[in-house]
Amino acid sequence: MKFDEWHPDYESTVVERAKNGQDLSFLKQEEEMLKPWLETGKSLLDVGCATAYSYYNFKKYGVDFRGVDIVNSYIEAGRKHLSEQGMEPSNLNCKSIYELGKDDCCDIVICNTMIQHLDEYSEALKKIAEVTGEVALVRTLTSDKTIIRKTITHTDTTIADNLSNDGIPFNVYNEQDLKEELLKHFSTVEIVPDSYTNEQQVQIFEKDYYSYTIFKCLK
Ligand SMILES: C[S@@+](CC[C@H](N)C(=O)[O-])C[C@H]1O[C@@H](n2cnc3c(N)ncnc32)[C@H](O)[C@@H]1O
Repeated sequence: MKFDEWHPDYESTVVERAKNGQDLSFLKQEEEMLKPWLETGKSLLDVGCATAYSYYNFKKYGVDFRGVDIVNSYIEAGRKHLSEQGMEPSNLNCKSIYELGKDDCCDIVICNTMIQHLDEYSEALKKIAEVTGEVALVRTLTSDKTIIRKTITHTDTTIADNLSNDGIPFNVYNEQDLKEELLKHFSTVEIVPDSYTNEQQVQIFEKDYYSYTIFKCLK
């Protein structure tokens, strides 16, 4: 199952965000964390950008903004709506994180709310490091334990019937394991709790709640 098949309604949400510039709270937090690097001439890559609405947070700094996502319709919608905001449409490309290469290298890399939807994280984090020049922020669901699962709907991730081998990964990864993996590729990795997001935490497996963590990684 592909991400857009699992979450067919998500397209309208992300198109709205590209049209109207909805300022997600965690993007505000990341904007503040990245202030020392955000200046004209720097390049920024958003991996798993959906329609690339994070552009609204970063365009005022004069950065060369790039985005990649595996769903082509999100990329097409981002190109359409964000070119009206001054973005170069060819800076958005449909590709998987696993296809990132030399041409995708940027000073600053962000990867938000995507690692939790992958079957694994080692290769994905390696790819992020390969394309990072100076600093990367990786935001994903974490806990003190790893929970691997696949779900076939997004309406209620707690219902056992929604689990399927063909479903989309919806994983919580152990925070320390992610940090250790990142430290194979970055000189320092700081665990920063997402303290800005105030919507209800994603509920996975009955009454357990998990947090979003932003890993701040320096080359
Ligand atoms: C929950 S959305 C997050 C979107 C955005 N980064 C945010 O935080 O608001 C996950 C995004 O990751 C994309 N995605 C999933 N698997 C991917 C892969 N292997 N490579 C690139 N993007 C992927 C999906 O298409 C989707 O747009």
